[in-house]
Amino acid sequence: MKVLYVCAELFPFLKTGGLADVSAGLPPALQALGCEVRLLMPAFPAIASAVNSTRPVALLPDGPLPWGKAPVLPTAKVALATLPGLKMPLYLLQAPALYERPGSPYLGPNGKDWGDNARRFAALGWAAATLGQGLDPDWVPDVIHCHDWHTGLAPAYVRAFADAGGATPSTVFTIHNMAYQGLFPRAVFAQLGLPAAYFDVGGLEFFGQVSFMKAAIRYADRVTTVSPTYAREILDPSQGCGLDGLLRERAHLLSGVLNGVDYQVWSPATDGFLPTPYDIDALAKKSSAKRTLQLSFGLEPRPHALVFGVVSRLTEQKGLHLLPQVIVDLVQAGGQLALLGQGDATLEQAFVDAAIRHPGQVGVRIGYDEVTAHAVIAGADVILVPSAFEPCGLTQLYGLRYGTLPLVRRVGGLADTVVDCTLENLDDGTATGFVFNDLSAKGLLSALRRAFALSRRPDEWTAAQRRGMGLRFDWLTAAQHYLAIYQSLKPGAKSRARVLSRRN
Ligand code: ADP
Ligand code: GLC
Repeated sequence: MKVLYVCAELFPFLKTGGLADVSAGLPPALQALGCEVRLLMPAFPAIASAVNSTRPVALLPDGPLPWGKAPVLPTAKVALATLPGLKMPLYLLQAPALYERPGSPYLGPNGKDWGDNARRFAALGWAAATLGQGLDPDWVPDVIHCHDWHTGLAPAYVRAFADAGGATPSTVFTIHNMAYQGLFPRAVFAQLGLPAAYFDVGGLEFFGQVSFMKAAIRYADRVTTVSPTYAREILDPSQGCGLDGLLRERAHLLSGVLNGVDYQVWSPATDGFLPTPYDIDALAKKSSAKRTLQLSFGLEPRPHALVFGVVSRLTEQKGLHLLPQVIVDLVQAGGQLALLGQGDATLEQAFVDAAIRHPGQVGVRIGYDEVTAHAVIAGADVILVPSAFEPCGLTQLYGLRYGTLPLVRRVGGLADTVVDCTLENLDDGTATGFVFNDLSAKGLLSALRRAFALSRRPDEWTAAQRRGMGLRFDWLTAAQHYLAIYQSLKPGAKSRARVLSRRN
């Protein structure tokens, strides 16, 4: 089965969050199950500068379509490329006018969305759909698997080809985050090259705007998200971000597949970023990672201080606005905080202020740094993820593997992966962390208190660590679920209708 995997981020080349980790982990696992996988990504500088070689494939078609005009785009080409360490070919969408901009794939230097994001990501969807129509005659996908709103128009274009009588691949759309929807003014619709009828409440129209996310949910053959609990939560108005009605309508096509972890990158026994590797059988060595972390974050190197770590985007999603409210309690109880994050300026400032108020007990690093992320996840005793909502969450999974007990809110993928240290769960031998319900300082404080209480029971603490370290959230397991979804869809078309053309 040929699978075209379409995304905007790929670890270690370009990453703003967990999406990049997923794009690095899932395709090889699908390959291991026998799928023939190719990636499609925009030629962002971080990707284009890393490729080993490229071979031109084709210009993106811009000629008339059976339903009207092609998308209005600058000249764009697809090339086949190889990337170091990537075990599969990558289709690179080359359109310098759209992608040759350094830094974030989505935001300009002012931290705001690029004004032409609709066109930048329409081009990605268009490239995917035209590859599905045989743009590369040597390789036509059976399934196009799209990720997040950036790829949201691909299923819409594929549907338009199907409506026009073309043979088309199946489409699967994976939601990584409902909060980012790709909403654009109505005026852009005319440029997108979609059938006029699609700008409708029954299509991709969302309160008078164009929604890439809605397009994908509406037109994909199957919709998935990254944990079973989040798949249920988004059916409710509280988490559906205005699309819960459509999701309920399509609930029979929606499922949650829990993300995996790339244990080649995230394992304490082989982690090259750690001063002393450790494992389940040599847990005492974790103290060396802790001391290194304390020293590098300006924390007093007290071996018995309970160190709480944070590695996170600082956005409303992550619930970290609760943390400044409980830092005094945390420090008074003898705890320390090591925080690595960036994002919301007010939150950044709140944490910088906390570090000034609690020298030696609170250390803060504002920024994005892969090496420090490993240092925090390995060196902390507890990794904090008090999210307001969390489609899956990866840092709690990394925490589990590193013997760093996750302290999380009972929501989304966090609820699916962490078992609270209640007396019952300790007794049953299932506890792996600390879980709280209410998105409030009181709720967070209750879990912090459980963490301090367990730390005074070292045997039980170690048992929880060992249990977490023994768990596996394998990409192979996730890939098996995706493969079953692909196989449940209509078989790949043998021949493609020739509905593509170029004007020049
Ligand atoms: P999200 O994708 O919502 O940000 P996840 O938990 O799925 O949340 O994934 C976050 C990923 O980004 C993890 O790999 C985490 O280590 C990484 N990360 C988040 N913030 C930082 C940071 N400031 N520096 C380095 N890595 C970070
Ligand atoms: C999103 C979500 C996060 C998830 C990640 C990878 O960024 O916020 O919960 O783990 O995607 O699927």
